[in-house]
Amino acid sequence: MESLLNRRTIRKYSGKEISEDLLEEILEAGCRSSTTGNMQVYSIIVTRDAEMKKALSPLHFNQKMVTEAPVMLTFCADFNRFSKWCRMRNADPGYDNFLSFVTAAIDAVIVAQTVAVAAESKGIGICYLGTTTYMAHKFIEVLKLPKGVVPMTAITMGWPSESPEQADRLPLEAVVHKENYHNYTEENINRFYAGKERREDSKQFIAENGKQTLAQVFTDIRYKKADNVFFSNTFLQVLKDQGFMNQ
Ligand SMILES: Cc1cc2nc3c(=O)[nH]c(=O)nc-3n(C[C@H](O)[C@H](O)[C@H](O)COP(=O)(O)O)c2cc1C
Repeated sequence: MESLLNRRTIRKYSGKEISEDLLEEILEAGCRSSTTGNMQVYSIIVTRDAEMKKALSPLHFNQKMVTEAPVMLTFCADFNRFSKWCRMRNADPGYDNFLSFVTAAIDAVIVAQTVAVAAESKGIGICYLGTTTYMAHKFIEVLKLPKGVVPMTAITMGWPSESPEQADRLPLEAVVHKENYHNYTEENINRFYAGKERREDSKQFIAENGKQTLAQVFTDIRYKKADNVFFSNTFLQVLKDQGFMNQ
């Protein structure tokens, strides 16, 4: 609980390595995660090699954690291995569809988060990389992912060399609904987002980006519709190419 409640994303790492034994212990713990039907329809690609990090860096939009972290993990939805096993055992795998992709994606993200928590419990800092889904087609190339495998998320891992302030969160009341969903009134929204909007860093964000509201920083700068539509189309193509669209 202590490590969960005190956690923060770490983007700067000391040069110290993460030993093979420690990484294996963390991965073992991660793989104890719940998994759909105990199928473990995910794979984890470990990147330690400097050349590989260099190749992955532009795909993660040159975020410096990629080359500076001792270890990077890419978590993939993977029905390739399970389907091969089925075919070899005279069983006909019916996993070339969108639902199976979602199943494997859920498995991959669950294992990623357990690995993250296990690493953080050992004092290691982690950072997720959302660029994984944006550039999925390129990761498929560089990481040599076969049909049935789709990269879902990645984390960089290393010993922290920064101690940033904890990021804010919405109040629990804003995200937890008792018994059924209670839709938000304007009064709720104003109250739940007031803390975030009052923060000095939020005000700075608005000023730096020449915007009027914090929400505009998200809609107009950080997560723009045009980008979302573009990356949605590339990702849908990836799902087709990787055989998850009812082919
Ligand atoms: C799916 C996902 C993708 C993320 N992608 C990035 C990223 O590409 N670069 C980055 O610096 N942080 C990334 N983050 C980290 C978030 O920015 C961070 O979790 C959030 O700002 C809250 O901060 P905290 O984790 O310190 O509480 C990502 C987090 C998640 C869950």
